[in-house]
Amino acid sequence: MDEKLLAIKNSAISLILETKSPKELEEIRIQFLGRNGEVTQLLKELPKIPKEDRPKIGSLTNEVKNIIEDTIKTRLASLKENKTNALPAFDVTEPINESDKTLGHLHLVTQAIREITAIFNEIGFTRVRYPEIEWDWYAFTSLNFPQNHPARDDWETFFIEQPPDPKKGPVLLTPHTSSGQVREMEKGKLPIKMLNIAKTYRRQSDISHTPMFHQFEGLVVGKDIAISDLKGTLNYFVKSYFGENRKSRIRPYHFQFTEPSFEVDITCGVCLGKGCRLCKEGWLELGGAGMVHPNVLRAGNVDPEKFTGFAFGWGVERVLMMKDGIKIDDLRTLYSNDLDFLKQF
Ligand code: DAH
Repeated sequence: MDEKLLAIKNSAISLILETKSPKELEEIRIQFLGRNGEVTQLLKELPKIPKEDRPKIGSLTNEVKNIIEDTIKTRLASLKENKTNALPAFDVTEPINESDKTLGHLHLVTQAIREITAIFNEIGFTRVRYPEIEWDWYAFTSLNFPQNHPARDDWETFFIEQPPDPKKGPVLLTPHTSSGQVREMEKGKLPIKMLNIAKTYRRQSDISHTPMFHQFEGLVVGKDIAISDLKGTLNYFVKSYFGENRKSRIRPYHFQFTEPSFEVDITCGVCLGKGCRLCKEGWLELGGAGMVHPNVLRAGNVDPEKFTGFAFGWGVERVLMMKDGIKIDDLRTLYSNDLDFLKQF
């Protein structure tokens, strides 16, 4: 009997403390102290137990009853007094203290994406979005990568476990925004001035890589588009984003989907091209670019005899870190949800 009473007392107390409203509390009261409540039942059974035990059990039962009543009273008072404790919701209409106002802000990668978009809007580029879960066709094959080209491994692509499409091949997480090039051409509208900014994925994670990152891809296709147009666009972007005193240059390189292909460099922000301890030779690598390969135009149903184009694709996080004044020791910090870090920007 003693043990039973103790168990009733403990379970009542823990249930009472968990209540979130006076209504719930009333239900608990009925469960234990109501006419058919657990404690009331025990009191009713008192005559059945041996005479000599009755006073002890009787007073113990009353004690438990009092404890439960007191706990209910205390809980009711605290529910009424401290509503926020009782209800996890908060009153959005309640005016707040001016001094408590803390405004958040956009993540610095979002800020960079908006800035880049605004810069390219000025010269007629339109931002588009294409799927992050992509067919091999758009990410590789249509971009002139031969079947079984090691690029699919080199780029450390994430493949999705899904049966391949007979024409478009396996499904993957797009490893670059270049996958938007043929999708844009498929719209069938020329000239093209596309800015594709998207999340891209590769199997890599270290101080200068995150498995998910962002790229922005420019594609221009039309009549008589030449390397000089690419050069002019690069210079315009570099000066708008990094500052008037920065310069760009292109170096020969190799990509499957451009011919000729280039690596684009910009002058170092510290020494402005003279060469210093940070950059060694005065130049920092920005990313790839080139003239769209005729096979890529064909894959997008564009006649390479009539039209030409240029393309470039760079990392958002990369240009962000190359901008003056932003020093991030470990790129992964960008996505670590560390408020102390994020508040700085
Ligand atoms: N897609 C390439 C990458 O992720 C970058 C790139 C190179 C994009 C050359 C281009 C290009 O549009 O023309 O490394």
